[in-house]
Amino acid sequence: MANVYGRLPFVSALLFVVVSTLMLLSRKQANHAAVAPFEGQAGMSAPVAKVFERACKDCHSNRTAWPWYSKIPPLSLAIAADVNRGRSFFNLSEWSGYSLGRRRGFLLAIETDLKRDKMPPRTYRWMHRKSSLTEQDRALLVNWAKAEGLLLRGKTPSLAKSNAGVPR
Ligand code: HEC
Repeated sequence: MANVYGRLPFVSALLFVVVSTLMLLSRKQANHAAVAPFEGQAGMSAPVAKVFERACKDCHSNRTAWPWYSKIPPLSLAIAADVNRGRSFFNLSEWSGYSLGRRRGFLLAIETDLKRDKMPPRTYRWMHRKSSLTEQDRALLVNWAKAEGLLLRGKTPSLAKSNAGVPR
């Protein structure tokens, strides 16, 4: 018995070193320097931006709010991978850097995924109760994606030309 307790300080010290080393190694979780407000870039109204902020921004913008458990390995690696994957699909903080065509593609994907209830991912919803979307939230985002898509269509010269004469 005395032996076990005798080792406790040593074991805690070792654990501390291992965990801090792993934390240093998984420093990838930085938010990029450019934490531009995304609402303006993507033509979101305040209510739309609020829903996006609550349910999507952690993985699809540079404004990720990293929870305390996202710093603890090995969970940290899995969470960072998810965020990086989400951002690499589309990152609303970098929206104005995308071509009009790409933005339209993202908007279509957003509309489809929301209608199929694919996003936010289920595991994320379990961890973040506030990210669950009501029908109304979903409709807000879907309508924004549709309206913004139409607006961009008007701004895309090649498409505008091929749509000439088609009433919008
Ligand atoms: C926990 C992180 C996370 C959150 C939160 C999240 N996403 Fe995603 N999203 C991802 C990842 C990761 C992918 C990459 C594709 C995949 O793994 O399914 C993705 C892919 C997508 C895609 C493309 C999927 C496809 O069809 O190929 C769309 C559109 C999308 N997300 C929209 C949203 C919207 C809208 C929200 C908020 C309502 C949201 N996401 C919230 C992580 C997230």
